[in-house]
Amino acid sequence: MDDHGFVVCAYNRTTEKVDQFLANEAKGTKVIGARSLEEMVQKLKNPKRVMMLVKAGQAVDDFINKLIPLLDKGDIIIDGGNSEYQDTTRRTAELHKKGILYVGSGVSGGEDGARYGPSLMPGGNPEAWSSIKSIFQSIAAKANGEPCCDWVGEDGAGHFVKMVHNGIEYGDMQLICEAYHLMKTALSLTNQEMSEVFEDWNKGELDSFLIEITKDILKFKDSDGSYLLEKIRDSAGQKGTGKWTAVAGLEYGMPVTLIGESVFARCLSSLLDERKHASSVLKGPPSSKYTGDKKQFLEHIRQALYASKIVSYAQGFMLLREAAKVHGWNLNYGGIALMWRGGCIIRSVFLGNIKTAFERNPKLSNLLLDPFFSEAVQRCQASWREVVATGATLGIPLPTFSTALAFYDGYRSERLPANLIQAQRDYFGAHTYELLTSPGNFIHTNWTGHGGNVSASTYQA
Ligand code: 6PG
Repeated sequence: MDDHGFVVCAYNRTTEKVDQFLANEAKGTKVIGARSLEEMVQKLKNPKRVMMLVKAGQAVDDFINKLIPLLDKGDIIIDGGNSEYQDTTRRTAELHKKGILYVGSGVSGGEDGARYGPSLMPGGNPEAWSSIKSIFQSIAAKANGEPCCDWVGEDGAGHFVKMVHNGIEYGDMQLICEAYHLMKTALSLTNQEMSEVFEDWNKGELDSFLIEITKDILKFKDSDGSYLLEKIRDSAGQKGTGKWTAVAGLEYGMPVTLIGESVFARCLSSLLDERKHASSVLKGPPSSKYTGDKKQFLEHIRQALYASKIVSYAQGFMLLREAAKVHGWNLNYGGIALMWRGGCIIRSVFLGNIKTAFERNPKLSNLLLDPFFSEAVQRCQASWREVVATGATLGIPLPTFSTALAFYDGYRSERLPANLIQAQRDYFGAHTYELLTSPGNFIHTNWTGHGGNVSASTYQA
């Protein structure tokens, strides 16, 4: 904000941090400091705009409660942390009653984004937007000159979009991990060789921040000259946003299977001791080595990753669309793709293609149905199947590559075996079913001859 000519007042409850910040990072800037909330609020001009970056949950409520007595009607509180979107909806409504305008903004981009331009996804009370728009849009990252920031929608819409961003981030990371696993285990590539593959991939349709950093991570050497990556404990952490996305998928009935698998892959990774024990008991196939043409298989992996990524984003947008329907949010899907195009962790050339797809057809029901993406999946399909089949044969787990393919095959199936589920439900519990010829008309059959004709009521959870 300071870089863009806005005067910022910095506050932290540990006041030494404010002093340290002013004496170091903020030295020579126009940033001023405050040693108490009262002092900070007094130093702000009207309407007062307070942006907090604190841990999601109780800390946010505590901070809001401390601020309320210090603010006037029309002042603005912005939460830039990874808050749970329903919390943001609740806070927006509570503060609205007090005349305070609340904004929950997704902020993505890590340290680099924070310093040189993040992706910003603000939502909440729309009356706040005109007072923060110029700040937010000037500090945001730019993609082809356009800010990676726009008003997302009411209530927790901004945080919902950020949550889905994070879910997709989990998916992208897991897909890259599976590619790495195949390269390392099936193809026995060295870290230097893998880094070169990622460098090459980053020049094409997979061009993205996460592929780029993976290239650097793979070849990074520790002070003893060995590759640092191989010394890191294979137990993934998580702070919750991926889990929330998967939970939202279940709640709204949207199959965000790739995100779900990414979360579970992290959970499985963290069962390190159990895995260690199981590895000595449970046997897999005799060899995990790929014996065919390595170069060709690398291209298969690249295409499998690309096709799976398309499925993942298609699923993410399905979830956004359903939540928008439920909450009455008027989400601009092309605008969301633009917000993610630069500054954030999932930034990529690919998001430019998504933006174009929604511009071509703002009512696009599913990304997979856009001609650009359906053609891309069609083109990658044979490689994708080859990779998933090879992973299964060699005993290398590919949870996201495979779930994406299963989704693709399910989504393109005119007929699925769910008729049998319906029949089973009706057989054992009289849960009723519909005939193909009369949808909406739920009937029950006395399958055994002694089950009677009384049926359970029909409802959808
Ligand atoms: C971002 C990131 C960030 C997230 C971290 C950690 O967009 O800058 O999404 O918001 O908190 O990536 O997430 P996990 O600890 O859950 O991996």
